[in-house]
Amino acid sequence: MPGLCVIGLQWGDEAKGKLVDWLAEGHDLIVRYQGGANAGHTVVVGDEVYKLHLIPSGIVHPGILNLVSAGVVIHPKTMLGEMDSLLERGVNIADRLKFSGRAHCVMPWHIKEDEIWNKVNSGDDNIGTTMRGIGPCYRDKVGRSFAIRMSDLLQPELEQQIRRITKYKIKSLAPFCDDGQVDLDAAKITEEYLGYAERLRPYIADTTRILLDAVDQDKGILFEGAQGSLLDVDFGTYPFVTSSNSSGVGVSSGTGVPGNWIGKTIGVAKCYSTRVGGGPFPTELHDETGEHIRVQGNEFGTTTGRPRRCGWFDAVAVRYTCRLSGADSICLTMLDVLSQLSEIHVCVAYELDGQRIEHFPENVSDIRRIKPIYETLPGWEQDITTARKLEDLPVNARAYAARLSELCQRPIEFISVGPDRVQTIVLNPDESLLDSSVV
Ligand code: IMP
Repeated sequence: MPGLCVIGLQWGDEAKGKLVDWLAEGHDLIVRYQGGANAGHTVVVGDEVYKLHLIPSGIVHPGILNLVSAGVVIHPKTMLGEMDSLLERGVNIADRLKFSGRAHCVMPWHIKEDEIWNKVNSGDDNIGTTMRGIGPCYRDKVGRSFAIRMSDLLQPELEQQIRRITKYKIKSLAPFCDDGQVDLDAAKITEEYLGYAERLRPYIADTTRILLDAVDQDKGILFEGAQGSLLDVDFGTYPFVTSSNSSGVGVSSGTGVPGNWIGKTIGVAKCYSTRVGGGPFPTELHDETGEHIRVQGNEFGTTTGRPRRCGWFDAVAVRYTCRLSGADSICLTMLDVLSQLSEIHVCVAYELDGQRIEHFPENVSDIRRIKPIYETLPGWEQDITTARKLEDLPVNARAYAARLSELCQRPIEFISVGPDRVQTIVLNPDESLLDSSVV
């Protein structure tokens, strides 16, 4: 059974967790493969709301093995907090959760570095990270000399390793701290991380081997992307991106599963755009409509609580990320949020230095200068949160979805009209969104 991937097509927060939860049934394994506790995936099951940062969204399904693979950076304290909160709510995680020994550990100095670099880079240059130590941890991973992996937590050299790295970090961070004092104590950190190691020991495993065995045994694997394709470190709005490959290209490098084994990718996109943190956002709204979307969509970060920047759907950007991430179809989310708007705009092209362009520029300076060219579609008044099939949607909502599908050159397979599992409309990819009996 070839692997299925769920990938965000915008700047994250596309409600991927809901789709992963929806698709989980019928899979043997669910895998988080990049990013870290910067992600916030919400799963709503009846009255229960689960907010997950590191653990795959499939954990709420009994019988599915949940893996956090090599490409993820793990903050052990956050992981343990999440595990404890699931246990308190009666979710059985024993034997259903494994993290890769190859995954890198977010250490206290990474969080400190994130804070310092955020202060140093102010104004327009500020990335506005989630302050979870993600960038510094990936930097040390690639740099190799100051990195600690999950399997290192179980080795006798850990204390020595922490002592050596702490010494270097204190020296390098001192010029940026008040009075040159860096609040890092190797003995305390060692004690803390040895404590984590003891509790995490049963969960640390060679997930690469587990995954490759699962591939050989033709098991069903669902890959859960975090953040979105426009935050990809290589192909997003660099440098205003996260530090991992958050587009479809990251699945293979983050798991060790060969790319030719991936059978299908579903791209998830909101029917408008949002972004948290700094960086260019061509269709951003600074008016009442932007505020209306923020309030209706409860657009506040799951991880940081920051208000999200809101804007119109950018079809040029999503067409690019559909191609980049190999999306076979789209799951269109939050359609209920646009109800009550008399008109809806969609960005269909850009103007760059007086020229019309229909591609997403690669340089941040160009992205900052582009002006969106909009097409206007009529809105709809009705509350659509109770819609369960295509026919339940007002014709203008269907026409809007149909136009987005056409502009992004991909069929729409799911439409989400609310956070609950049941608020999902499933479409046959060959089905017309606008069949003649309704138009
Ligand atoms: P970092 O991943 O914390 O380094 O943050 C880098 C950029 O990615 C910032 O603009 C963050 O707001 C953004 N970011 C990171 N994770 C998420 C996410 O899960 N959703 C949306 N934005 C994110």
